[in-house]
Amino acid sequence: MDWYAAKALLEWQMEMGVDAALCDAPVDRFAAEADLRAQHAERVRQPGVATAAPAPKVAEVDPVAEARALAAAAQDLDGLRAAMAGFEHCQLKKGARNLVFADGAPGARVMLVGEAPGRDEDLQGKPFVGRAGQLLDRMLAAVSLSRADTVYITNVLPWRPPQNRDPKPDEIAMLMPFLQRHIALVNPDLLVIMGNTSAQALLGRRGITRLRGQWQEAAGRPALPMLHPAYLLRTPHAKREAWGDWLALKARLRALK
Ligand code: URA
Repeated sequence: MDWYAAKALLEWQMEMGVDAALCDAPVDRFAAEADLRAQHAERVRQPGVATAAPAPKVAEVDPVAEARALAAAAQDLDGLRAAMAGFEHCQLKKGARNLVFADGAPGARVMLVGEAPGRDEDLQGKPFVGRAGQLLDRMLAAVSLSRADTVYITNVLPWRPPQNRDPKPDEIAMLMPFLQRHIALVNPDLLVIMGNTSAQALLGRRGITRLRGQWQEAAGRPALPMLHPAYLLRTPHAKREAWGDWLALKARLRALK
């Protein structure tokens, strides 16, 4: 392996959290596995001992139904956060450092739904705090909006997918009841659907570059699909369209007053 490959590998391990302690004391997993193998070999040697214990029966769980029940029981945002933190059926939770629940003003008239936490969001437990989030804050400020008082922000997924991969349909499906309850509890006048994953989750469609700027209805209220700030960082000339969308949002807010 050359120097560059080794460096990339080390960076990847840092990214995966190799420096984060999981328990107070180190556990030698190799020794534990060797122990298990020795115990198994011992059992197999004993005459009359069954080699394989019958697999324990695992109760069938429907993650979507469970998410629905948990979400429906949440009476407020704190309750919803606790319900999501206790939801164990999404594999993404196991690889994430933090639950990224929301940020912003709970009584806001605008609720923005992003896609999923990235590395910075996973580390801080807050949505949109990396480079895309900084651009988002600047765009909000340009139309006199801010997460301090007028905007509430969440994501379709509260846990970072490994290597920022796209979420799988079953992951979106099991997290949708939480998102729907989240929107109902915040009860904003307007929704902003930021990016393709959010469009898929809330409108059942992808193709954000075509959908953007066209008012839709989602979760029982007007919703404006917009280009994701991460896309705008990669495609700066699209900022002109995004600016038009922010102005349209602002005008609709004024009209609703
Ligand atoms: N992109 C998102 O969609 N959400 C975040 O929280 C960060 C980046």
